[in-house]
Amino acid sequence: MFKIVAQGKTITCSEGENLRLVLIRNDIDLHNGKAKIINCRGIGSCGTCSVEIEGSVSEANWKDKARHSFPPHSPEKNRRLACQIKVHGDLKLTKYDGFWGQGDEVVWTAE
Ligand code: FES
Repeated sequence: MFKIVAQGKTITCSEGENLRLVLIRNDIDLHNGKAKIINCRGIGSCGTCSVEIEGSVSEANWKDKARHSFPPHSPEKNRRLACQIKVHGDLKLTKYDGFWGQGDEVVWTAE
C-alpha cells in the first residue's frame, strides 16, 4: 500500500491504481468549481484533473503530454493529469486554481 497526501488528508492505495479514481473515492477535491460537473470523466481530454505531483507515478502518456502542451496549460509547469496516472509510490499532491487547475495560486497542498 502507498500513502497519498492531498488536501490535508492521508489516504492509501495499491500499486498501479488510477490516481483520479483514488482521489475521488476519498473525497479529495480534484476538480475545481464547475469542473466537478463538467469534465471528461477520466478519458484524458479535458485537462481539469491537472495536479502537481511529488513521488513515483507512471510516465506521462501522449494524452498527458498533449493536454499540457497547449493553453491554458503550459508544458513549463510541472503538472500531470491525475486520470492518466498509475500510482507507483507514496505521493504528495498540490492543486492549483483555474477551471483546468492551470493557475499559479495554490488551492490545496498535501498538508
Ligand atoms: S478528467 Fe479530463 S483529463 Fe483527466
